Amino acid sequence: MGMTTIGLVQRKDDVGTTTIATNLAVTLRNRGDSVLLVDAGPQGRQKGTVRDWSATGDSQTPETIGVDRPVVHEKLPSIEGFDVAIIDATGKLEEMTISAIKASDLTLVPVQPSTADPKKVGQVIDCIETHQAPTEAPSNERRPAARFVISRATGSSKMGEQIQQIVSEAPFGRLDAGTSQRVAYARALGEGASVHETGDKEAQAEVKAITDEIEQILRADGQ
Ligand SMILES: Nc1ncnc2c1ncn2[C@@H]1O[C@H](COP(=O)(O)OP(=O)(O)OP(=O)(O)O)[C@@H](O)[C@H]1O
Ligand SMILES: [Mg+2]
Repeated sequence: MGMTTIGLVQRKDDVGTTTIATNLAVTLRNRGDSVLLVDAGPQGRQKGTVRDWSATGDSQTPETIGVDRPVVHEKLPSIEGFDVAIIDATGKLEEMTISAIKASDLTLVPVQPSTADPKKVGQVIDCIETHQAPTEAPSNERRPAARFVISRATGSSKMGEQIQQIVSEAPFGRLDAGTSQRVAYARALGEGASVHETGDKEAQAEVKAITDEIEQILRADGQ
């Protein structure tokens, strides 16, 4: 059976994309999948990339490759030996977003409620509508295999009305699970680890719930 690919795309910095990608990768690896992390973005950009994370981590860190140009969708099909690939696509270049979407069986769009930019979220939705292959459903029910995932939520950060409307009217839904703002995420990212290596049970439960939901969606899609 072929590799399943999960792409994380955004058009905005700092929304927690790399944090979700790395924690998802370690969780799936712990569950027995062989996982490839794909750092889709120009090399040598600022700190906090998947490549940085991987270089900081120990031998347990899932294998990581960098793809500097928007050719992820061309490159991934020829890679063998992995059950799952997780793409962390940085949002600077629209071509890279499109390449990651084309490569993915499921696209995830992290949204940070307190900082979400309606225009940029709208751009991602448009890209997904145009480039994500729809699931095998009767044509009148076809929706892109994509989900929003709420990232870095805080008790007080309500999603703005405008962004809430955009999310609710999008042609795909959101995961029930998401991450809250917790020190453990930042610490784990800086140490090349996941929240499973921290003592934060709540963060661990969030990551587990995100992973459970994703596995359920992929199973339902007949992966
Ligand atoms: N749930 C969270 N709780 C606390 N801090 C978080 C959380 N998610 C991410 N962070 C922190 O926020 C910053 C940005 O996170 P991250 O690097 O994952 O985002 P990104 O979208 O990949 O950013 P970039 O645009 O740099 O690629 C990092 O310092 C990270 O440790
Ligand atoms: Mg990142």
